Parts: sequence; structure tokens; C-alpha cells
Amino acid sequence: MLVPIVLTLCAITRIKGNASIERKFPSNFLLGAATSAYQIEGGWNADGKGESDWDYHLHKQPDIVQDFTNGDFAADSYHLYERDVEILKELGAKAYRFSISWTRILPDGTTNFINPHGIGYYGRLIDLLLANNILPLVTLYHWDLPIAFSNNGGWLNETTADRFGEYARIVFNAFGNKVKHWITVNEPSIHCSFMYEYGIHPPLNKSPGVGFYECGRNLLLAHAKAYHIYDMEFRKIQRGKVGLSLDAEWPIASSGSKDDLEAVKDYLAFNVGQYMDPIFKGDYPERLVNRIAAASRRQGFTKSRLQAFTDKQKAYINGTADFIGINHYFSLYVYRNASVRGMYEVPSFLDDTGLGTFQDPTWPQSAFTRMREYAPGLYSLLMYLKDTYHNPVVYVTENGFPTTPAEDLNDGKKANYLRAYLKAVLDAKANGSNCQGYFFWSLVDGLEWASGLQKYRFGLYQVDFNDPSRKRTARKSALVYKEIIRTGTIDFDYNPDPYGDRDKCFKNT
Ligand code: NOJ
Repeated sequence: MLVPIVLTLCAITRIKGNASIERKFPSNFLLGAATSAYQIEGGWNADGKGESDWDYHLHKQPDIVQDFTNGDFAADSYHLYERDVEILKELGAKAYRFSISWTRILPDGTTNFINPHGIGYYGRLIDLLLANNILPLVTLYHWDLPIAFSNNGGWLNETTADRFGEYARIVFNAFGNKVKHWITVNEPSIHCSFMYEYGIHPPLNKSPGVGFYECGRNLLLAHAKAYHIYDMEFRKIQRGKVGLSLDAEWPIASSGSKDDLEAVKDYLAFNVGQYMDPIFKGDYPERLVNRIAAASRRQGFTKSRLQAFTDKQKAYINGTADFIGINHYFSLYVYRNASVRGMYEVPSFLDDTGLGTFQDPTWPQSAFTRMREYAPGLYSLLMYLKDTYHNPVVYVTENGFPTTPAEDLNDGKKANYLRAYLKAVLDAKANGSNCQGYFFWSLVDGLEWASGLQKYRFGLYQVDFNDPSRKRTARKSALVYKEIIRTGTIDFDYNPDPYGDRDKCFKNT
């Protein structure tokens, strides 16, 4: 008996410095996968669903998307949700993060009419998840905005936040007896930059250095509105948690120079602090405010392009997160020197940051240019959140590595990435991070927004988009993840060259 016990202990513990580090995810740690409505559901007008900005703009102007695909059918999860739950079961997933399509519930966006079919669809999905012991983590808004609101200024219009609150109330009321984890909005920074800074997502309204901040501000107000509605009307009975998901890369100083170290702090202020600080500290970070104000002055604006929150708004937003969701994909080196001036459009958000970025070409490359594997970045990010924001409850609500269509089912690089980043989570937990869950992006292949359906394969499961039945097939990464979830640990005895062929990491296949 002694030998197996000793071996098991060896497999789950490692020594780091003098400390014995727990190498196993606790049984209540949520290992799961994530998706979003427009990217996988299809059924764009099924059973009374109304039109979102994505539906409208991609029908009107298909070349918004590189390969002219759209979300009309996508992975057809609207009809295949039972298979998706089966997949989650196959994986042994403990939780599933998905989003609700606003216009499936409220076809014109307002509470004038609540679509019973929309309520029915999500109700069936949630029930099936729960029947299989899979916890639903539900995003209220993952970028698909009712077209009427988009046409009325979208997230540049503060009243969209009011409409969002009304929608949130309907959803809490319908599903809050079963759903206990709510994510109000997904990735304000990427969402606002793609819409307004770069103008590559609907409504294709490019206003660099202006719309991006206004949009982020209104999304924070929308988030806070939903939080307060939950707090005042539902929390006592439903006893759930409300947070939001932020995209966060990890910036590494490219040298020890004062300028480069400052650049790291500024990167974090723009990328993370812009949203975290109002919620966790009561206002925008000072360095964000100062940099934008100074640049605005230089450019002849009469006031800062970043509108300050009123005291009332500050108080309203402060403290409105029971947890924080982090979508983390990659790291980058940052620097600041004379060459940065003139590198970007003026005004623009990037110009405001006043820093340059690059990546280490030896980091394993995904199909997506900027998405390279550097797992210590996730460790550092989790430690930064712990140290900067009083160790909040964190869920890694997205982390993923798209492979190419050619790699197909043999996505060993994705599997390696998954192992490496989960190890980083274990390391962070061992050092005090309050990370309580991890959601791989994505459960199945879907529409990668303006990049289309074909180019980037994020799924643990392949979806055959040429097959009308949208057949799902497990990739190697799915098998690796399944074993990690089953054992609660990673095979640390397999310690290959970190950048070599690590496909053998899954010993049992
Ligand atoms: C973050 C977004 O939330 C998701 O919709 C997207 O597909 C992934 N990043 C990958 O780019």
C-alpha cells in the first residue's frame, strides 16, 4: 500500500523553494469551457429572435468579415445545445460559460415584448446543464447589441446602459433561481476598441481616442446598473454572484529602464485599471486620467477626451463586483522611447498610452499573430490582481490558443498551451491567488467575429462547417483537458523541452 500512496503524493506535490506546493485543483475549482451566443448559436431569426447589430451589419455588408461568413448558422448551437452539453459531459467539465442573446429574449431590445421561445431555449439549456452537474456561468452581454440601440448611438449613448439594466432584470427574474454566477459585460476594452477605435466591428464607427473611452465608461455604468438591480431586487432570494469579464494581457518591461517600467504601469492602467479601478478603488487610475488629459491638451481639445465620472457615478460603480473574470490570451513586451512618438494615429488610444509593444518570436505561435504562448504571463497577472485589488475572487473566464484548419484534430500546440496555462493557475493559487475557476475558450469552433468561421480553430471540439449537421469531433486538446479534469492535475512528470514537441503530454491516448 505504501508505494502507491507515496507515488500519488509525488505526483501531486512539488517543491518550490522551501514550500511544498499543492499540485492539484481542489474539487470545487471550476474547470470548464466558454462560448458566446453570436459566435455559436446560429438561429439568427429563429422563433421570433430580433435583429442584433451583428445580424444587421453582416447581412448588409458581408465583407466586414474576412471570409464573408456570418453567425446565421455558425455552430448551430440553438438546435444542437443537447450535443454541446453532451460534449461538456464527455470532458467532465464542472462549469460552462455561455452568453444570452439579448434579442432572443427581447426581440426589439426593450421590455415591450418578452419572447417566450427565447426564455424557453435558455431555460432548457440551463436545466440540462444542471441535470448533468455542470454549473452555468452566464454572460448577459457578449457584444451582440439590439440593432435599434446600435442605431441610437450604441454604447456612446448613456441610455443604452439603462436599457441594459432593464434587460438584465428580465434575465435575473427568469433564470436567477438556477443561475448563480452572472457576468454582466464581456471585455469592454476589446469590444469598445473594435467598434470605435478601429471601426472594424459594427457599427463600424471609427472615432479614435474618443469613442473608445466613452463606450468603456457607459459599459461600466451598464455593469453597475445590472449589479445594483441584482443587489436590490434579487440577491436576497437568489444568492448569486455578479461580476464582469475583462480582457487582460500581461505586459513585461523590455528593460529595467525607468521609462520601460513606467510603460508597464501605464499599460496596466489603460488595459486593466480603466475598468478595475472604478469598481475596486472608486475612480479611474490617476496615470490614465493624467496621460489622456495631457495628450488632449497638446492636441488642442478644450477638455480631456476621457470624461470624468461624477461623484455620484463613482459611488454608484464602486464595489460592484463579487468576482472578476479575466480573459487572458497572451503577453507582450512594452517599451517607451523616442521612437514611440509618431508611431500611432493622433489622437488615438494607442498614442495616449505612449508605449510600444512586441513579442518574443520564440514563444510558440498560434494561428493568430499576436496570440503566442507565454504561460508565466498568466501567473504574473493573477499575482498582480491579488496584490493590487485585495485578492478578489477571480475566474479565468477565457484562455485559448487557435490552431489552423490544417492542424485540424491534431491540435497538440493548443493542448500544450492549455497544460502550461493551467500550471500557471496552479502556481498562482499556491501563492495565494483567489482564482476559483478556469474556462477554456472555446468549447466548440465558432465565428471569430470579423475574422470569420474558417481561419482560427479555437474549439476543443472541431465543428464541421461544411456539414449541414455541424458535426462536432473531439480534438487532441479535448482529450488532454478531459484527463486534466478527471485527475484534477497535470502530468508534471512529463517535462519536455518547453518549446519542443510536447504532444505526448497525454499519456493515455
Ligand atoms: C475574446 C472574446 O470574448 C471572444 O469572443 C473571442 O472569440 C476570443 N477573445 C478570441 O479572440
